[in-house]
Amino acid sequence: MSKRIKYLQTDRGDLPMYAEGIVEQDWDSYTEADHAVWKQLFERQSALLPGRACDEFMTGLEDLKLGPDQIPKFSEANKVLRAKTGWELVAVEGLLPDLRFFELLSAKQFPVTWWIREPEQIDYISEPDLFHDFFGHVPLLANPVFGDYLQAYGAGGVKAAGLDALSFLARLYWYTVEFGLIQTEQGLRIYGAGIVSSKGESLYSLESAAPNRIGFDLQRLMRTRYRIDTYQQSYFVIDSFKQLFDATEPDFTGYYAALQAQTPLAAGEIAPGDTIVQRGSGEGWVLVGDV
Ligand code: PHE
Ligand code: CO
Repeated sequence: MSKRIKYLQTDRGDLPMYAEGIVEQDWDSYTEADHAVWKQLFERQSALLPGRACDEFMTGLEDLKLGPDQIPKFSEANKVLRAKTGWELVAVEGLLPDLRFFELLSAKQFPVTWWIREPEQIDYISEPDLFHDFFGHVPLLANPVFGDYLQAYGAGGVKAAGLDALSFLARLYWYTVEFGLIQTEQGLRIYGAGIVSSKGESLYSLESAAPNRIGFDLQRLMRTRYRIDTYQQSYFVIDSFKQLFDATEPDFTGYYAALQAQTPLAAGEIAPGDTIVQRGSGEGWVLVGDV
């Protein structure tokens, strides 16, 4: 699809009239082929996720009344989100500068890429598209505790940018918002957007013997490097979104100072003091796209 740069006037009085980086979704410009890509991915993931994704995610999918037939309209999703949690979606061309991204989150605005991948990219795309951003991230924005966490994350990001600590916060986003697992009474479940939007990683994250699954520990997690070219070598497991919210409530300034003095851990490493939910075999760490 062609690239567009069109700036949109927002209807929120508390924000600048022309918000940098925000474009129109221009829903009428989607082709039949675009809707067909959504349908194929939507049907595949919604068949896979019951019993694998956490209840909060599945409830969000229902609340948003998402279905296979057409690419969702951000304006429709916004009616549901505003009423449930006060979040809203804004359309963007692609990844934003860090500070801009954090500012949006702290204002409860979630940037969603407006374009969808091409049919040849069904199994793997190297940058976020509408399917990842919408299907992966938006359902949990309907959850109040997760929504509050993400807003606090945004505010924390603005602060961390001034403390030269963005790499630590990026790891937190990666291992929670993108690749988090959650322990439930029914068993281990997925909540990370990067997992729920990927067929291969939805299976691998729960069922492969290769990766480590480690109990969530904020400072340990922020010490851990990540790789963007493989499925994860370690997943961090929370007990609840409340645990995540509470653990991230304190001021991180002191944590950053301590972290800056430590050497990072490799993505697949086990450290003393880890709560091991499941130790990975390390065998068959899989390249992304190699489903
Ligand atoms: N409490 C954090 C801080 O002081 C803010 C934050 C909240 C960061 C949630 C990340 C996630 O920086
Ligand atoms: Co994402």
